[in-house]
Amino acid sequence: MSAVLSPASVSPSATVDADAAPQGLVIRPVAGSAGPLGAEVLGLDLSRPLGREDFARIHRAHLDHHVLVFRDQRITPQQHVDFSRRFGPLQIHVLKNFQLAGHPEILIVSNIKDAAGQPIGLGDAGHYWHSDLSYKDKPSLGSLLHAQELPGEGGDTLFADQHAAYDALPEALKERIAPLRAEHSYLAKYEELRARSPWRPKLTQAQIAEVAPSIHPVVRTHPETGRKALFVSEHFTTRIVGLPEDESQALLAELFAASVRPEFTYRHQWQPHDLVFWDNRSVTHLAAGTPDSERRKLYRTTIEGDLPF
Ligand code: SIN
Repeated sequence: MSAVLSPASVSPSATVDADAAPQGLVIRPVAGSAGPLGAEVLGLDLSRPLGREDFARIHRAHLDHHVLVFRDQRITPQQHVDFSRRFGPLQIHVLKNFQLAGHPEILIVSNIKDAAGQPIGLGDAGHYWHSDLSYKDKPSLGSLLHAQELPGEGGDTLFADQHAAYDALPEALKERIAPLRAEHSYLAKYEELRARSPWRPKLTQAQIAEVAPSIHPVVRTHPETGRKALFVSEHFTTRIVGLPEDESQALLAELFAASVRPEFTYRHQWQPHDLVFWDNRSVTHLAAGTPDSERRKLYRTTIEGDLPF
């Protein structure tokens, strides 16, 4: 069963004040990205009340740019949760041992180990290209990742625009994949990752039941913009329904390659206190990796989306 916290289940905080005055925020495309992918949000303090007008601008920019980088956000975990929840109910990650204490909605993404040598977070999150929680019946709308501690080198996150990837496909391929559906499974690469990172827990039967695979369209329509996007990823998509295994694997390999062409990607180099909010319906993402000698810690919330169509 998926654990979802509804907006009504918590009391509002100062970050949810619909009548607050505009903060004078500026939204501008990020440097180093071709096309619309990625915008910076400047002059906004999410620890202060966020009014209707600013929220509407942020929402519009998120739909237009798919990845928003809110600079210099000195927010608490509760403020991170409250801001995330304005976009929908939050999803709880199946690896509950990496929840932030007191905040089950926050997954700790970190390569840091505590004094007893135990990992404090999911150190290899994002090792393969993926869209968060695409293995759920209702995959994620978007995720918000807030930098807590950044490495001196490495630790970038890459994003790939799945509208652009779809638009660039040859017409014959678009026609071929239009009716197709694919399976997404959390377990697809779990044991492979566990072999590489033995600190990953062995999943219980309850956890395995919580992440039962889902079937989704290979091309999904964004529920808010109506735009089409490729919706497959090397991490979670296991097979195309109804195709022989060899054909299914060959087609997936072709689509995976098409989905991460460099001209459709933005590489995010983290700055202190960045909060990055991406649209899992429009982009896939990848953690580029952090040297073992470097420490990296971020907090992630994940917003529940709609049934893909
Ligand atoms: C993730 O896949 O959610 C984590 C990405 C990252 O650590 O850069």
